[in-house]
Amino acid sequence: MRILVTGGAGYIGSHTAKALARAGYEPVVLDNFVTGHRPAARWGRLVEGDLQDPALISKVIKEHDVKAVIHFAASLLVGESMAQPQKYFWNNAVNTLKLLDAMLSTGVKHIVFSSSAAVYGTPDKVPIPEDHALRPINPYGETKLIMERALHWYGLAYGLRSAALRYFNAAGADPQSEIGEDHNPETHLIPLIVRATLGLIPFVEIYGTDYSTPDGTAIRDYIHVTDLADAHVLALRYLMEGGESVALNLGTGRGFSVREVVAAVERSSGGRKTPIRDAPRRVGDPPSLVADPGRAVDLLGWHPQYSDLDTIVQTAWNWHAAHKGTSEHKAK
Ligand code: UFG
Repeated sequence: MRILVTGGAGYIGSHTAKALARAGYEPVVLDNFVTGHRPAARWGRLVEGDLQDPALISKVIKEHDVKAVIHFAASLLVGESMAQPQKYFWNNAVNTLKLLDAMLSTGVKHIVFSSSAAVYGTPDKVPIPEDHALRPINPYGETKLIMERALHWYGLAYGLRSAALRYFNAAGADPQSEIGEDHNPETHLIPLIVRATLGLIPFVEIYGTDYSTPDGTAIRDYIHVTDLADAHVLALRYLMEGGESVALNLGTGRGFSVREVVAAVERSSGGRKTPIRDAPRRVGDPPSLVADPGRAVDLLGWHPQYSDLDTIVQTAWNWHAAHKGTSEHKAK
């Protein structure tokens, strides 16, 4: 059975393409390679193209006899979304509506959608259950919420069934080191700590040391990308077996501070010291984001296997050490 994977050459998309192939599905990766990487598109079929072109999407769905969609293609930097909301509303909202148009016109009824913990904004409490108030504090989170709402109404009107997966902090790399996290520019904590510890960048800044957390640094719920990928396969199966539309948190239920993550990387490096610098808080960062993952566990039978912090960090370390950390290095 063929599954369209938009953004399938990106970080979570490529890990999900691998998981789909392992589960017996054939991914049809659609990527425009603006941020995706050609070497990461190695499972199933590949179509180079853009969601801005609805005729192309319908053609791909028909030609490859696609039965369902997993939709990753999006812009994903919170800070950039504050400076360039236009880019986020077009890429994440308008282009997703175009994808839904193509699904409606071709009769494809199932979609797994990349949502985000950013839909919650600054939570009233942690762990955060799915029925917590949805109050995004940046355009990135707003566009994810808008599309969750569109999926809800499209479900009622057109019978589209969807699983909106609200990722907490995706991290780590494929345990076989075939693919990993390779953003350019990189803004995410774990790859930056790994790169600093490997000596590929001079230091990593700790954004905020005065939060009301035990060590003063911000707390996040880090979830291994392979566990996220498996959740997509389970969500797809759930929908194809007749499951109702749903929104699910994907996290571990456990949070770690920035300093705890630095310590974990130092452990996995065999005794190196990470060069760090304390810095002011980053605008828009909530102090603590931790998932209540109970619904995904109950409904999908999802059990993260790689998401203890040391495994996350070790797989990230292995991949970065093998690939010298950056797209620029790989391009040489
Ligand atoms: N951090 C640093 N130094 C850095 C980078 C990050 O101290 O150089 C801190 C951040 O302030 C934050 C934590 O490390 O407290 C994690 O930051 P990331 O940038 O790795 O991840 P975010 O929590 O900001 O963002 C992630 C996803 C977003 C998503 C968001 C939802 O990357 O796509 O979670 O909350 F929107």
